[in-house]
Amino acid sequence: MSNNYFKIAVLPGDGIGPEVVSESVKILKVIGEVFQYNFQFTYGLMGAEAIFQTGDPLPEQTLDICKESDAVLFGAIGDPAFDNNPDAKVRPEQGLLKLRKELGLFANIRPLKTYSSLIEKSPLKREIIEGADIQIFRELVSGIYFGEKFTDEEGSYAYDVCKYSREDIIPIVHMAFQEAQKRKKKLTLIDKANVLDTSRLWRKICKEIAQEYPEVQLDFMFVDNAAMQLILNPKQFDVIVTENMFGDIISDEASVIGGSIGLLPSASIGNENALFEPIHGSYPQAKGKGIANPVASILSTAMMLDHLKLNQAADKLRESVEHAIENKYVTVDLNAKQSYSTSEVGDFIADYIRFSEKSYYNFENIKIGKSTIV
Ligand code: IPM
Ligand code: MN
Repeated sequence: MSNNYFKIAVLPGDGIGPEVVSESVKILKVIGEVFQYNFQFTYGLMGAEAIFQTGDPLPEQTLDICKESDAVLFGAIGDPAFDNNPDAKVRPEQGLLKLRKELGLFANIRPLKTYSSLIEKSPLKREIIEGADIQIFRELVSGIYFGEKFTDEEGSYAYDVCKYSREDIIPIVHMAFQEAQKRKKKLTLIDKANVLDTSRLWRKICKEIAQEYPEVQLDFMFVDNAAMQLILNPKQFDVIVTENMFGDIISDEASVIGGSIGLLPSASIGNENALFEPIHGSYPQAKGKGIANPVASILSTAMMLDHLKLNQAADKLRESVEHAIENKYVTVDLNAKQSYSTSEVGDFIADYIRFSEKSYYNFENIKIGKSTIV
């Protein structure tokens, strides 16, 4: 691999996945031109769409494309045909879980921040959320998601086992400490150590590893309290590390701090590969309507650029997204009065990457809500 050639696996998935991912691909092409990188895109089927076409939510071919790639850009999965049918044997979500496991994506990183122009969109008060900036590190390939599962024949008895080993915990805890060291030097382990053995193991290992990061302050918080603290006082958090299911739940909860789940990106990192996807789901009601917010996918693409060490391009992309948001060039979820379509928002961001202040779009007009394209 030469250092400006990158193989990107693209898995658009279900619902609004294809629409938002196509904006990310559009933007990567522009970044390729502006920064002289060569991105090669290979598409794969995944999720409900893959089940309909092949019977398998993660066909072998898709897995191979991902394994051969430098990074995976993923849209969303899920379809009402499966959500409303508890007896379905094959489900789209199984494809995502298998992909995470097969690619060894042990750390799911979910950054949360507020945008000043969107503070009023959050149901939480300005003084509570303004300035909140949290990085959640969620363990992604172990715990109750991947433990033994069982349902008896009569369907009257079932269990899911939650298991963690040292090897599962150590790498993500190091990653979280390293991130905290670069930030405000505060790491909070969210657990349920008053009840669960697995949580006590997490605490023990965090305390051991803390010796290697003397500058970082390590705190512990029970997950029930954390659910409350995230809403009461989100600014107390810097970096959070937690197990798979607690991370799933608290990251959705924390998404209200930013004003819209349509803004939140995520990165899932392993030793050999990495996958980038919005936190939001497939939003099937909006499919094909051009109203989906592409920002979460686009910001996931910025995380991908950082992962590929293309930090300058990643910074430019984030700056362009912020420019769109601060100028209210946004989809309907963020501004019901005057909104732009999924691809218009993508075009605006792409244009700013190319031309910055010399952009084709007239910002003064955008702010006062007139026609925007001169
Ligand atoms: C997420 C999703 C998935 C999860 C589902 C779709 C399996 O909710 O990425 O947070 O629970 O991990
Ligand atoms: Mn989730």
